[in-house]
Amino acid sequence: MCGIVGVLAEKNAASMAFAALKRLEYRGYDSWGVAFKGGKSIEVLKKTGKLPESFSFQAGSGTALAHTRWATHGKVTEANAHPHLSNDKTIAVVHNGIIENHEELKHFLEGKGFSFNSETDTEIIPNLIQLFMGEGQSFKEAVRLSLKKIDGSYAVVAMHAGERELVAARNGSPLVIGLGKHSIFAASDVPAFLDHAKKVVYLNDFEMALLGKKAEFFDVLTGKQLEKDVEEVNWSIEQAQKGEFPHFMLKELNEQRFTIKKAVQQPKGIIEKVSSMIKNAKGVFFVGCGTSYHACVSSAYIFSHVAKMHVNVVLASEFRNYEEFLEKETLVIAVSQSGETADVLDAVKTAKKRSSKVVSIVNVMGSSLTRLSDETIMMNSGPEICVLSTKSYTSQLAILLLLAYVVAGKQVEGHELVEKAAALSQKVIDESSAPAKELAARLKNSRDFFLIGRDLAFPSALEGALKIKEVSYIHAEGFAGAELKHGTIALVEEGIPCIVFSTDQTRPLIMSNAQELKSRGAFIIGIDSKPNKLFDYFFRVEEVGNANPILMILPIQLLAYHLAVEKKLDPDKPRNLAKSVTVK
Ligand code: F6R
Repeated sequence: MCGIVGVLAEKNAASMAFAALKRLEYRGYDSWGVAFKGGKSIEVLKKTGKLPESFSFQAGSGTALAHTRWATHGKVTEANAHPHLSNDKTIAVVHNGIIENHEELKHFLEGKGFSFNSETDTEIIPNLIQLFMGEGQSFKEAVRLSLKKIDGSYAVVAMHAGERELVAARNGSPLVIGLGKHSIFAASDVPAFLDHAKKVVYLNDFEMALLGKKAEFFDVLTGKQLEKDVEEVNWSIEQAQKGEFPHFMLKELNEQRFTIKKAVQQPKGIIEKVSSMIKNAKGVFFVGCGTSYHACVSSAYIFSHVAKMHVNVVLASEFRNYEEFLEKETLVIAVSQSGETADVLDAVKTAKKRSSKVVSIVNVMGSSLTRLSDETIMMNSGPEICVLSTKSYTSQLAILLLLAYVVAGKQVEGHELVEKAAALSQKVIDESSAPAKELAARLKNSRDFFLIGRDLAFPSALEGALKIKEVSYIHAEGFAGAELKHGTIALVEEGIPCIVFSTDQTRPLIMSNAQELKSRGAFIIGIDSKPNKLFDYFFRVEEVGNANPILMILPIQLLAYHLAVEKKLDPDKPRNLAKSVTVK
């Protein structure tokens, strides 16, 4: 959940580390810190709260580390912020992950005379390195031996006051090495260094890098040197910047004009290959978390309607309960923007344990999930920096829709449908923008929102509710149209905003549910292709049949964005959230 950076540069390493950190801010923003060389010692700067827009560093050549934190161990304080120093202050470490045996290691180090200044598990690492260096090990070897003592997950970068090299390693948390012309980076994610490096090396678990004049790679467990492939990333720095938009959320939401179509422009053969895996599987499970899970719920309806096929949809975090039903012939389709969500990785590991096949639908190239999967379909959405998923959701829906059509033998129809939705997305975004802003100003003080939809529009209600609550902090709940009256309707009172997703297929029944709400004084916001006398407010969204979920969510993404802006909240970084949830 944290963002980590290590930089090795001829000059300005501290400023470069800060700039890289700024691009990882979406990974955590409780507190931050930078470590850099100040003469022969290491200077550390730590602050609580969000990163400032800029920060000037007087010194900092050679090597620097930076960290943005999403607290897991210990409160949000300067002492708990990273980087953490060894007792002798010669070693600094930034870490993302959780050290499960930290209590035991802490006692071990205390027994050797070490003391601790924070409540974090991370502080163990620089002190273990100091201990091993004290026993005569080199910096690199001391890092390796320290990591061998750790149970749990880590992405780590370590620097030493007396060395010109950085050591970086991973096990279970993301870390990628960026090789620039005049600099080398280790970072949690590629956008951190896109302005300096496009050549990357993805580390696998238990691999480490020694970054100096060049990058060398080693196995953490054996110490053996490794040959690693250098890959070229196709994301641009512009894609990782806000440009003319005030927030990434608005930028990414607007990009859906292009990303929906790009999602189904796949390399030759991959969609056909995955659809034949689906057809031949003995049981198909779709797994994901949060927004990606909602895309999976949508896929259950789509596969049932289009491919006449039952698929199972399970929250990734609950998937282990299905382990005994997994066989060699079972197919697990893991859907994840980041490809780093711990619960999703855990579900995939459960599947692999049972020798089931795994297909992933992922946005981030080189992510852990891509490396655990038998086949991967890339979403092609470009970097999604805002903590909220917007464009990745509609890309997931587009890919899942196409897969269902291909399974049904209707490839051309599937492509045409997605392309129709993609073309109309521009119109829906343009026509909904001003009304969403106006409506947000009117509803910003609401206490609750209820959202209802039937059939394919039910997952849209779930996703719409998630968007509203996570960014505006207004309570929102999504229901299948008929469910509200089985209890929650007791909460509906005069003026409460209720969003009704209606389609040609569901209109008669969902309108009777809307009527039940209206009779109790609800303020009805309709998402439909046709106006209706029940609607107090109306977003027109063209009817595109099975592709309806792709378009129906757009006005609510816009409404959620404007609710946050009206409430003077930062839509890109909602409280308590981080983009990649790398803890279980
Ligand atoms: C909501 C949101 C989260 C993610 C969830 C899964 O806007 O972003 O609910 O969808 O944490 O993340 P990925 O898709 O990266 O596995």
